[in-house]
Amino acid sequence: MKKLTKAVFPVAGLGTRFLPATKASPKEMMPIVDKPLIQFAVEEAVAAGITDMIFVTGRSKRAIEDHFDKAYELESELEIRGKGELLEFVRNLLPKNINCIYIRQAEALGLGHAILCARPVIDDEPFAVLLADDLLDGKPPVMQQMAEVYSTHQCSILGVQEVPRSETKSYGIVASQKLAERLEKISAIVEKPQPEKAPSTLAVVGRYILTSRIFHHLEKVQPGQGGEIQLTDGIAALLAEQQVLAYRYAGVRYDCGSKLGYLQAMVEFGLRHPEVGGDFAAYLKGRGQDALKP
Ligand code: G1P
Repeated sequence: MKKLTKAVFPVAGLGTRFLPATKASPKEMMPIVDKPLIQFAVEEAVAAGITDMIFVTGRSKRAIEDHFDKAYELESELEIRGKGELLEFVRNLLPKNINCIYIRQAEALGLGHAILCARPVIDDEPFAVLLADDLLDGKPPVMQQMAEVYSTHQCSILGVQEVPRSETKSYGIVASQKLAERLEKISAIVEKPQPEKAPSTLAVVGRYILTSRIFHHLEKVQPGQGGEIQLTDGIAALLAEQQVLAYRYAGVRYDCGSKLGYLQAMVEFGLRHPEVGGDFAAYLKGRGQDALKP
């Protein structure tokens, strides 16, 4: 049995939906209250027992490397000011046994291409993929749920959820047959079909566990939807030779690639924030009848 120890975080995207915020800094560094999206995703991978975090980065993404690196100036400044608690917090963002590996994707040729860039460090092992702008709030964390399914089934697994038919054109959509509670066997997958052409309303979210055989197929994939090398097309080819399962995760998804989803996440995580949650709830309550007015 091959253990799941590696995760890929494709973070080279341009983040055009959040311009100008994302002009000079990565969208994955946008915070939900005080924690950047990428850190949520990495913590989810850590909870799943993953130790090697592989970031596929691009230009203007240096902040992600700095975030998980040692911050000498900040640390000595906090020390001088006697801010011991903050210092410990900044020093221990990740457990000590975690390795961060960075690969540059020179051109943004698509999600499938980004995954292919990670091939040299993954070789023939299974690996997880986490798209940080899908913030998944699950107990246990969603990748941990999926890693458990993987340990039983030892095959590729895609995180899925039902979406309204009008939204199929924003997702990879699967055709599947029920295997067990929360688990489906995928027979087909299409990238961003129009509602009338979608094989179902079961959409892939930004969580995958893939066998290394996917690389073989991604190498052959031609540019598809949007002129990009699509991961979905690689998975469609993989399906012809290996079982791929869809897992209906337990949890709530915030689409932080969209402004509305990002705001919703901010409200939910703000309300349960240990420091400001109570005051924030009082503030929202105080707005009461006025809540719908700008
Ligand atoms: C990507 C994938 C798509 C998937 C989605 C989940 O699309 O290509 O299949 O459903 O992530 O968030 P993107 O949202 O990057 O356009």
